[in-house]
Amino acid sequence: MDENKTHLVFTPTSPAQLSFIERVDNVNDELVDALRIPGMQIIIYGPSGAGKTTLLINKLNQLYESQVITRCMVGMTMEQIILDGFDQLNPYFTSECVSSEKISISSDLKLSYFGLKTQIENYFQEKSQRLLPMQLTPQRLAYYFGHSNNCWVLEDFHKINEEEKIKLSQIMKVFMDSSFEFPELKIIAVGAVDSAREVVQYDPEMKQRVSEIYVPLMSDNEIAKIIYKGEELLNVSFKSSLIKRVQRFSSGLASVCHYLCLNMCTNSGIYVTADEKINLNEDDFDKAVEKYVKASSDTLKEIFDRAIKVNRVRKYNNPHIILKAILQLGKDGLTHNEILNKIQKTIPDYPAGNLTTYLKQLQHTTRGEILRYDKNAGNYSFSSPFVKAYAHCLLTNQAKKNISLDEVQIPLNELTKIFIKSFMVQFDNGK
Ligand SMILES: Nc1ncnc2c1ncn2[C@@H]1O[C@H](COP(=O)(O)OP(=O)(O)O)[C@@H](O)[C@H]1O
Ligand SMILES: [Mg+2]
Repeated sequence: MDENKTHLVFTPTSPAQLSFIERVDNVNDELVDALRIPGMQIIIYGPSGAGKTTLLINKLNQLYESQVITRCMVGMTMEQIILDGFDQLNPYFTSECVSSEKISISSDLKLSYFGLKTQIENYFQEKSQRLLPMQLTPQRLAYYFGHSNNCWVLEDFHKINEEEKIKLSQIMKVFMDSSFEFPELKIIAVGAVDSAREVVQYDPEMKQRVSEIYVPLMSDNEIAKIIYKGEELLNVSFKSSLIKRVQRFSSGLASVCHYLCLNMCTNSGIYVTADEKINLNEDDFDKAVEKYVKASSDTLKEIFDRAIKVNRVRKYNNPHIILKAILQLGKDGLTHNEILNKIQKTIPDYPAGNLTTYLKQLQHTTRGEILRYDKNAGNYSFSSPFVKAYAHCLLTNQAKKNISLDEVQIPLNELTKIFIKSFMVQFDNGK
């Protein structure tokens, strides 16, 4: 049996490779088709943690020679993004890098790349600002990408401001039109939002040449497949009741599944594939949850604080009202109407428009992405069951003690108990 490192099998914070599982057929096929069609631009969207990056990286590795990945951050301009793409092409144009027989870059092309690079550097020294010089046009960018056989991945493109995003549509057009010369040239924009148009607002005329791919959260079946794959790679066996628990706790987020399985293994001293099969049981699971809570309680607090932050006093404390109503309703996956009805039971004149605005905001990074919207089902849920349990715990404690939210203190061990209890209740109810 091959020896695998546990940290490379269960990867809660990086794209899975060893334990990568193929996604349901249509998602897989759509992406593979879109990657193969020359000139087809791609937008991948869906909830945070659904597995967009992992799917893309694995498919690119199977189908592509190489790719340039630009990670977008809040506040980045399109100029900065273009420069990042341009800078990352550097190795393909240096003479030392002969990456494959397929890529042959003429000395003229190298000269042109470095000429432009020097111009840009001089330009920055003069202006001391990251503004794009005129010479780096989308056409030239496409030309360098094309010649180096690269496609360009824009990760987390949803974080970019609207007015900056508009420029991408123009660049996509140029990349599309260059596909005759460079069949592999394409832009793949990835965003954690619930419609492709929120990632890139492209022109209607481009519709035929942009593939929109929705990556949903994982089904329980898919979560189980990750666990089975891990079992095989590490020669361990999770008790069947544990598989159900991990599915329940993960609620579609593979990262939670990876985290819990990783903790169960490392707690038992399994750092590489075991020589003889090792069984893992409920005790290991509880310990894993405890560790997870310890590691994530600060993050949970931060998400919650962001979600309910009020910048100025308004008639309604909207985030607070909405989260409370969702928690009181108890179940996951609530429609706009269900939430509105619940709120209006206590605040009869609460405006539907406020709910619409804040449901949108609560999915955004500025509010910790505390909620998520399931496009297929048309309903809202907490972004993870842990966030939900944490919010529940804080709000009930606050109400019970009649203090402000800032004053609520929950010791870690209590938090762990509450988590396990709240998941087990759901579990026992067979939900
Ligand atoms: N197909 C998959 N097989 C196994 N693990 C996966 C798969 N997709 C995602 N994961 C795991 O889930 C977590 C989140 O995935 P990621 O691709 O970062 O999601 P997103 O980009 O949608 O936010 C990572 O820990 C990753 O290892
Ligand atoms: Mg991602």
